[in-house]
Amino acid sequence: MQNNIISGLFVGQNLLTLKEVDSTNNFLKSLVSNSKPLPEGTVIMAENQYAGRGQQQNTWHAEPGKNLTFSLLLIPAFLQVSQQFDLTRAISISVFDTLRPLLGNELKIKWPNDIYFGDKKLGGMLIENILSGNTIKYSIIGIGLNVNQENFPQTAANATSVKQILRKDYDLRTLLADICNNIESNYLKLKAGDISFVRNEYLKRLYWLNEKKRFKATDKEFEGVINGVTEAGMLQVAHSGNVNNYNLKEIEFLNK
Ligand code: BTN
Repeated sequence: MQNNIISGLFVGQNLLTLKEVDSTNNFLKSLVSNSKPLPEGTVIMAENQYAGRGQQQNTWHAEPGKNLTFSLLLIPAFLQVSQQFDLTRAISISVFDTLRPLLGNELKIKWPNDIYFGDKKLGGMLIENILSGNTIKYSIIGIGLNVNQENFPQTAANATSVKQILRKDYDLRTLLADICNNIESNYLKLKAGDISFVRNEYLKRLYWLNEKKRFKATDKEFEGVINGVTEAGMLQVAHSGNVNNYNLKEIEFLNK
């Protein structure tokens, strides 16, 4: 289905809405590998995603028809593999900037790419890059945002939604269109070589930046301060006079 509500040049111009699918990331990945070339910016959106995937092999649950679950195809051949995290940054700030006017200053990006309101998770991303040598051949950008869902299971006790915050429904298509437009603009900045813009804007929106907080790494709890994110996307945490860099699986944020 061609869309006519998204105003940009390519992100979301080829929009396919599925009633039901296991995972939009899986669907887009198999389209990319099995069919004729897909246009960059293709978006696959699902009304019901019954086996959604999250980061670190987690599952992503979303009540049918109430949330945004979609995947976007980008072809960032201009990025080196070592610059993958700049794409994560560009997408994160795009989702953030869409929601910020609605939700205000409690909104943050929790490293690496969660969208948080206060201490609760509003959405997340699963970005799967298909590499070719030293460059990125395809990037499958999966985005899940809790929009009109009011109740969450015990297993997602930390989740919140736009509706829980604003007490009213929000139109999913409008939100999708705004996210696509913001992604297009930040992606084009990245493509034009404005990496420092994307890095600075990401850092400005970072949850717990420069605050003394509790973390857990290598089975030890400690107090530390996030003071940056490396070029490659590792979290930099200062504690006991040192600054250590962490990958996703290596550090836990302790909300207590
Ligand atoms: C996370 O925070 O763990 C990432 C969640 C990503 C969920 C989205 S929903 C659309 C796309 N399809 C998937 O299977 N996962 C992503």
